[in-house]
Amino acid sequence: TKVDWEVSAVDKMGFPYYMAKEIFEQPSCIRRILSNYLLNNEIELGFNGELDKALQSFNRICIVACGTALHAGMMGAQLFKKWCGIPVEIEMASEFIYSDTVLDSDTLFIAVSQSGETIDTLEAMNKAKENGALCLAILNVRGSSISRVADYTLYTDAGPEIAVASTKAYTTQLLIFYLVALKTATVRGKMSEEDVASAIDNLRKVPEAIQTVLGQKDFIHRLAKEVITASDLFMIGRGLDYYVLMEGALKLKEISYIHSEAYASGELKHGPIALISEGTPVIAAVTQTHLIPKSLSNVKEIRARGANVVLLAKNELKGEFSEEYHVIGLPDLEDEYMAFPEIVALQIYCYFVSADKGLDVDKPRNLAKVVTVE
Ligand code: G6P
Repeated sequence: TKVDWEVSAVDKMGFPYYMAKEIFEQPSCIRRILSNYLLNNEIELGFNGELDKALQSFNRICIVACGTALHAGMMGAQLFKKWCGIPVEIEMASEFIYSDTVLDSDTLFIAVSQSGETIDTLEAMNKAKENGALCLAILNVRGSSISRVADYTLYTDAGPEIAVASTKAYTTQLLIFYLVALKTATVRGKMSEEDVASAIDNLRKVPEAIQTVLGQKDFIHRLAKEVITASDLFMIGRGLDYYVLMEGALKLKEISYIHSEAYASGELKHGPIALISEGTPVIAAVTQTHLIPKSLSNVKEIRARGANVVLLAKNELKGEFSEEYHVIGLPDLEDEYMAFPEIVALQIYCYFVSADKGLDVDKPRNLAKVVTVE
C-alpha cells in the first residue's frame, strides 16, 4: 500500500488519517501549553496560587490512569522523584480501585485522562476523594466527568483527538507533568532558580525538536517497512527511555497488531532474552547519557543472538553507532527532555507500520477511544 501524508482530505487537514494529523499537530500543541502555563519565564498553574500552596504540603503522591495516560503518569512519577524527592506510587486505575494503596489528607492524588470519562479512572478519583486526598486531574476534554470530581484540573488543550491511538494527548500530558513537577520542586525549595530557568529553557526547545523528528518521516518510514511482516517486536531501554518505550510498544500493538513489549534492558537476562532469535526486530533506545554503556552491552547481547536492531539515539552519537546499526537520530536535548522527540519518532514508525499493512490506522479492531465500562 502506498502511504501518502499529503493526500487531500479536508477534515483531516490533508492527512490520510487523523493519527497523522494529530502527530503533526504536536509542536503547536506543546507551544500552546507553554504559552498557557509560562508567564515571564515562571510556571503559572493558575488558581490564584492556591494549587502552588497545596503542592507544598503533601508528603506522598499517587498517580492513576489507564493506557497511554498511564504511561504519561509513569514518566511523571520519575520526574517527581528526581526533582522533588517525594515518594510516588503509580497504579493502573483498574487495579487501584481494588487495591489497599494508602490514601489520606497527606496524599496528592493525580488522575490522568484524555477523555476525562474513563470509568476506572473516574472511580479511582472518587475513592481518593472519599479518603481525603487532594485530587488533581490532568485532562484534555473540558467539562468531562473527572473534572467535576477533581479539586484542580490542568488541561492539556490539545484539541479533539480522534484517532483511537493517542499521540498528542500523551505528549501534552507529559509536558503538564514536567510543569507540575518543576513547580512542586520550586515551591519546596528543592531546585535553585537557575535550575528551574534552565529546565524551562529546555522545555522551550521541545516544539522545534519534535518538528525536526517530523522532518525525518521518510527515513523512519523506510525502517518501518522492514517490520510489516514481523509477528513480534521488542523495545528495550533503561531509565526514562524504558517508560517512553512502554508507550511505543502500546502504540505498535494497538494499530499494527504486531505483538510488542517494552523491556527494561537490565531485565532481559531474567527472561525476555529467551524470545530473541534470528531476525527478531528490536528497537533499542539509548538517549540517557549515563546509561549508554550498560544499554549498549545489552544491545550487543541480543545482536549476538540474531536480533535486527534499530537504535534511537541523540544525533551527537549517531556517527558513532551508524556503522553497526540503523540509527534514528534524535535532536540533542538534555537527557530529561529526550522523551518528546523519542516518542514522536516511535509514533511515526508505528503509524507507517499500520498504514503500510493496509490497516485502519484510526480505528483499530476491538479498541474504543473512550472506555466507560469496567
Ligand atoms: C482507551 C484508549 C486509549 C487510552 C485509554 C485511556 O483504552 O483506546 O488510547 O489511552 O483508553 O483513556 P483516557 O481518555 O482516560 O486517557
